Amino acid sequence: MKKSLNIAHRGFSGEYPENTMRAFIEGVKAGCDGIETDVHLTKDGILVICHDETIDRTTNGNGYINNYTYDELSNFDAGIRYGEDFIGEKIPTLDNLFEFVKDKGLLINIELKNNIINYKGMEEKVIEKIYEYDLSNNVILSSFNHQSMVRVKEIDSNIKTGLLYMSGIYKVHEYAKKCKADAIHPIYLSVLDEEVVNEIHNEGISINAWTVDNDNDMKKLINLGIDGIITNYPNIMNNML
Ligand code: G3P
Ligand code: MG
Repeated sequence: MKKSLNIAHRGFSGEYPENTMRAFIEGVKAGCDGIETDVHLTKDGILVICHDETIDRTTNGNGYINNYTYDELSNFDAGIRYGEDFIGEKIPTLDNLFEFVKDKGLLINIELKNNIINYKGMEEKVIEKIYEYDLSNNVILSSFNHQSMVRVKEIDSNIKTGLLYMSGIYKVHEYAKKCKADAIHPIYLSVLDEEVVNEIHNEGISINAWTVDNDNDMKKLINLGIDGIITNYPNIMNNML
């Protein structure tokens, strides 16, 4: 049986402040094969890593990322809400992450968070960064905004894309093929069964499911033969494999 890749969701976010360099470093230490993370654009056009459109939940600041310049954002603490041990963590830039992973051979899943705010020019900026760090063989972009994923393919068909979704898509293999996607990124289990997995794989398309945190579900998905499992606990997944 093929091994499913162990992809750390927002880094090792089960035990460290999500989407910080610390979480990425700890994910690698825990033995992940890949990292999933989320990007937004600042007011001055810098790609930064954060899950939400605002910094309210994860930092000691508040407000929308696209209302701040990167310099302004770097004053906030992205660790403090997670405990004293993590004080001093910054909101990372995509450069920070790419610099860290560039020689590690990991799969890097960059989720473009352009499904609520349609950041203009985001696709071009991310693609430019991928080439700057020579990571085109390692990176797969994903988004709930499928128009954006089609746009990525129109800009550069060599860049890999994945379609994020949270409930069943009718004939998803035909849809994914139409979007020229390299992968589907479904919420786990409820939309996946043997038939979907086979139909997708027969089209040469991969399956990376999220967010899988317990070992029973991990086992089920590994047995289904999916390609990647996106988890907050890369340590649990590593023990299983
Ligand atoms: O990319 C998988 C997963 O991260 C999608 O949802 O909200 O956690 O970014 P979310
Ligand atoms: Mg995400």
